[in-house]
Amino acid sequence: MGGGLIAGYGYLGVMAGRFLLPAESGRTIPTFVTETSRLKMGKSMPFVTAAGEKVVVARRGPGETADDFMALSSVCPHLGCQVFWEPQNNRFFCPCHNGTFAADGKPTGGPPLAGNQWLTQYKVRVENGLLFIDLPADRLTREQLASQGCGGHGDDPGDDAARGGGALA
Ligand code: FES
Repeated sequence: MGGGLIAGYGYLGVMAGRFLLPAESGRTIPTFVTETSRLKMGKSMPFVTAAGEKVVVARRGPGETADDFMALSSVCPHLGCQVFWEPQNNRFFCPCHNGTFAADGKPTGGPPLAGNQWLTQYKVRVENGLLFIDLPADRLTREQLASQGCGGHGDDPGDDAARGGGALA
């Protein structure tokens, strides 16, 4: 009887784990960000994914390929503060503990450098003048997945200054 009880709890634990810790499938969902023509050379724009992740998308080249753009999380990997692009210093800066990052998300100072904590990079796609970033499907709910065809919230890079976006050198 004791063995059956233990087996029952074990089964419940496995089932709870499947809901609390979703499996990492590795599947990604391309998510529309903006038209490439709306992001000028050296400019960046904030973008919030359907799952609420804050991303900075920037143009670093004049062309129309994925290499001409970059997308990084704007959440500091140290303790989760918001990082800001400093065009005058060509870096991202985290005001919480003076963390700094290069334009590619590599840590260059403060606690993120000590811990080798990079800003998360998102894969960029460009198709027919439209810019997409790949988001891990595991982080989205069924409703969020269904809404991905409608794009995110960051749609007007012209409002960079008002929303804290900046220029990339
Ligand atoms: S939270 Fe960014 S450096 Fe600590």
